[in-house]
Amino acid sequence: MGWRGMLGFEYGIVQAPLGPDISGPELVAAVANAGGLGLLRAPDWEAPDYLRDLIRKTRSLTERPFGVGVVLAFPHNENIKAILSEKVAVLQVSWGEYSEELVLEAHSAGVKVVPQVGSFDEARKAVNAGVDAIIVQGREAGGHVIGQDGLISLLPMVVDLIGDRDIPIIAAGGIVDARGYVAALSLGAQGICLGTRFVASEESYAHPEYKRKLVEMDKTEYTDVFGRARWPGAPHRVLQTPFFSNWKNIPAHENEVNQPIIGRSTIHGIEKKIHRLAGTVPNVTTTGDIDSMVMFAGEGVGLIREILPAGEVVKQLVEGAQLLVHTKFSGL
Ligand SMILES: Cc1cc2nc3c(=O)[nH]c(=O)nc-3n(C[C@H](O)[C@H](O)[C@H](O)COP(=O)(O)O)c2cc1C
Repeated sequence: MGWRGMLGFEYGIVQAPLGPDISGPELVAAVANAGGLGLLRAPDWEAPDYLRDLIRKTRSLTERPFGVGVVLAFPHNENIKAILSEKVAVLQVSWGEYSEELVLEAHSAGVKVVPQVGSFDEARKAVNAGVDAIIVQGREAGGHVIGQDGLISLLPMVVDLIGDRDIPIIAAGGIVDARGYVAALSLGAQGICLGTRFVASEESYAHPEYKRKLVEMDKTEYTDVFGRARWPGAPHRVLQTPFFSNWKNIPAHENEVNQPIIGRSTIHGIEKKIHRLAGTVPNVTTTGDIDSMVMFAGEGVGLIREILPAGEVVKQLVEGAQLLVHTKFSGL
């Protein structure tokens, strides 16, 4: 194990599962090869054979362990069976209930279970279910935001809840560079989970225009205007693009269903029409009015200045954090 490793990984750096298909085999393998934990993202529908292929493709790009993220708000039982039978290192879950039985089943397949939570109560449930680590998401996070609390207050509360138990806590939300990493460590985390920083990497499947905006723009907002019909009750943090600023005050009963089609994407092998106000970020295959599509981003987006190879992101986080601890905090 290297500096601040956890769960058997060399470093305590996690690349979040990025829906719907932004964290594919190339990104996950690049993170794994750099010593971090990369997470594929399972489709939002049952597609076990497709998922097995994704896992195998990733294995052809790295010999290191990696994991898969599943959003429990969508159909997932067959997908989880495929994940367990493929014996990936980690099953990440979010947005829904999971049982102690599932955790036991995963453990007997040699798979660790790592939920992402957005509140103290959810963290307590996770501990009771016997999970292996917990990702604590603050309201600063990009993408769908589970809870209301900021990371700086929620994280130490969960750390206190865990006490002496061997359950690493992983901080998520607004972390982009080594300063955020060291801050999370000082709050009691053993690792960090980054989404937006990895969307803006060379290997992510995000559309180049989305990546460009992550570098150029620096403001985000917490909203519920995108994807209201498909995934109600799931607020999200997005880039404040001109499109978003024009549409953010639409009435509560409006949603994507009656809106015109503004583009098309192939998502996990299936061609999809993208309606205006849909909650689907543009990927490399997306055509149409990209500027009017949702672009998830966390509050740290203003710190992203360039698109980097994902391995370089991991390296800069580790080396930067080591330097920071050495120069600012040693010998106090
Ligand atoms: C484009 C995008 C897609 C995301 N998709 C998922 C997902 O499928 N499952 C999940 O648990 N979290 C997802 N997240 C949230 C991340 O897990 C994580 O909480 C968040 O990215 C952390 O904040 P940051 O973006 O500021 O690093 C997504 C985030 C982004 C930016």
